[in-house]
Amino acid sequence: MTLDVGSQTAELMDRYKKVMFPAVSPYYGDHPLVVDHAKDQYIWDAEGRRYLDFFGGVLTVSVGHCNEEVTARTMEQLQKAQHTSTLYVNEIMVRVAEKVAELAPGRLQKCYFTNSGSEANETAILAARMYTGNDDVITLRHAYSGRTMLAMSLTAHGTWRLGNVIDPHIKHVRNPYVYRAPLDLSPEQLVELCVQDLEETLATVTNGKIAAFIAEPIQGVGGFIVPPEEYFKRVVPIIREAGGIFIADEVQTGWGRTGGKWFGIEHWGVEPDMMTFAKGMANGSPIGCTVATPEIADALQGLTFSTFGGNPVTMATALATIEYIESHDLLSNAESKGVRLRQRLDEFKAEFPFIGDVRGMGLMQGVEIIKPGADKAPDAALTASVMSAARDCDLLIGKGGLYGNVLRISPHLNVTAEDIEAGCDMLAKALTQVAQ
Ligand SMILES: Cc1ncc(COP(=O)(O)O)c(C=O)c1O
Repeated sequence: MTLDVGSQTAELMDRYKKVMFPAVSPYYGDHPLVVDHAKDQYIWDAEGRRYLDFFGGVLTVSVGHCNEEVTARTMEQLQKAQHTSTLYVNEIMVRVAEKVAELAPGRLQKCYFTNSGSEANETAILAARMYTGNDDVITLRHAYSGRTMLAMSLTAHGTWRLGNVIDPHIKHVRNPYVYRAPLDLSPEQLVELCVQDLEETLATVTNGKIAAFIAEPIQGVGGFIVPPEEYFKRVVPIIREAGGIFIADEVQTGWGRTGGKWFGIEHWGVEPDMMTFAKGMANGSPIGCTVATPEIADALQGLTFSTFGGNPVTMATALATIEYIESHDLLSNAESKGVRLRQRLDEFKAEFPFIGDVRGMGLMQGVEIIKPGADKAPDAALTASVMSAARDCDLLIGKGGLYGNVLRISPHLNVTAEDIEAGCDMLAKALTQVAQ
């Protein structure tokens, strides 16, 4: 590791530690990255070092940092009207909702805007409970749903569930994690096991009637866990039979990330009753969005309010981001660049025995790091070393997974062929360094 904490960073971190909650913990341990400025595919740190960004602030900066077209439209709105609250109406919010209704699959037509994925999921569960009159919610182990109390209750990573105030109506079932399937079950057998677990859960710890099933089409924080093709087609009818609606949490997978489709769930041949968005929908501006069928949206009765929900500046940024993705055909770019990225990662898997699995779709690719010859034992320490070595080679990537051993690689949707090669060359160098 040749990285030094420069004097600018050291000085800032002294101040940071005095005034920030310690539980908010940046990547890279004693060598945190202080972002000074960013443009397109690059981030510069406080010491002036430039990095190629293959993480996008957790799949959020979807069309590049300070994207000129998006920023111009944000600035234009900033000078027109900055804030309305949901007590006044602004036209740009209606335009974003119309765009969501146009692009969303099936009959999803009505939006509720908030500020984060956590809030989007809160809204979805509330609407599902009011629509069905049922309370129980089924979700998956290894899910990540956010940091409000309800979202932490939905989340199924012990480390992300703080405060011990957990909603008793939320039940977690087995997730379709093929690489870590028990007894080396095949993907087909694993789907059967998941179905059986769901049915047993419904029969044993619910009264058979549920409000909803919420799931990520590809689990993000969980380590880019891609379900077998049949998974959603098997479980969604069971959920509907139990009176529940299906909520696709598209916070990571939405807006072209998985390549070829606007939304991750479209790969799996089922239609959700609601979807939730955040992150990549507004290229880094705080946003949450819940879209539902008209009858579910209409069932959320009573007064509700969000000070910043539908904020016109955020809405202008979201609309510009979505239109940028559309006009530059970034669904195709994510698909084709994702194929090449995957080829390179598969080559690394063949070369480095500590790479146990490579998986993902489009520009959402995960690399699971294990201890070779130790029955897939996760290697979180080596994963952290790869991340640091990649940074040392001027490349930013992320990590996740229940065991902290999955590299998360998610370049911007407008990544070029040259940058895919450059980023993979940097990653190859990092992998070689840690292998020594
Ligand atoms: C799938 C998923 N849902 C919800 C959330 C929560 O979003 P936020 O951090 O904006 O509250 C996240 C955040 O990582 C997420 O990955």
